[in-house]
Amino acid sequence: MLDERRTSGARIGFVPTMGALHEGHLSLVRGAARECGLAVVSIFVNPTQFEPGEDFDRYPRDREGDRRKLGEAGAGLVFLPETETLYPPGSSTFVHVERLSRLLCGATREGHFRGVATVVWKLLEIVSPHVAYFGAKDAQQVVVIRRMVRDLFGPWEIRSLPTVREKDGLAMSSRNAYLSAEERAAAPALYRALSAARARAEDGERRAERIVAAARGELEKERRIDPEYLTLVSLADLQPVEQAEGDLLLAAAARLGAARLIDNICLRVGAEVEEILP
Ligand code: PAJ
Repeated sequence: MLDERRTSGARIGFVPTMGALHEGHLSLVRGAARECGLAVVSIFVNPTQFEPGEDFDRYPRDREGDRRKLGEAGAGLVFLPETETLYPPGSSTFVHVERLSRLLCGATREGHFRGVATVVWKLLEIVSPHVAYFGAKDAQQVVVIRRMVRDLFGPWEIRSLPTVREKDGLAMSSRNAYLSAEERAAAPALYRALSAARARAEDGERRAERIVAAARGELEKERRIDPEYLTLVSLADLQPVEQAEGDLLLAAAARLGAARLIDNICLRVGAEVEEILP
């Protein structure tokens, strides 16, 4: 079916997901359908990107709900691969994007980005889209995938679209389902902290340390949140900066009860401060 569409000149937009779909995923699906005409969506809870002891077994799964939401969002085709299809017995080839995969989330989730890069490469090979869509919510993932596609001469265009948030600022995530009511009420502090740092930069502060301190000060007000990292790095190589200048990623990860929250804001800092996409 995809080949027919391709030869009849259709453009194919592809949205890889792990399911338990929410508005963040659906905004990518709508974006793909709008920009390309045909949106292909994959749902696959990829075992290789979970560390031992992580939540692979209890990762939320909702096939029926997902199908309904995808229909409403205008997905043209849903791809539900089996594990044996993506990882035939004896599979021993992986894609590892060096350096970038060890920083930020990769510091505590050692094999995570190797699993992500490997499955995304396989999915891109199978679906062969013109454009693949990823959420800015996982900015490091976007940086890693862009680097992989560049380094290995992948023919696909990689697009990122903005983070979709709840009304109180919390970035939507399938893992927010792990939060108790109390934790859910505390969770927006992470985005408040990032916003406080952005405000400091908008006020003219250019010392990274001071900008990050603004976020840390805000986050410390919420005792239930246990920060894992909170940092200002260059968007190109994810290395920490001392001076805020150019394209930057203000990124945070934190534990809250059973959930690990991540969030970020990408900024272009010149004379003015502008929010950009990774
Ligand atoms: P998953 O967490 O299901 O996310 C699928 C896509 O939705 C990713 O590109 C992610 O960045 C995007 N997304 C998630 N929450 C979002 C939000 N609040 N706003 C905007 N976009 C959001 O990311 C993965 O799956 C996997 O690592 C995958 C790429 C599918 C590889 O297994």
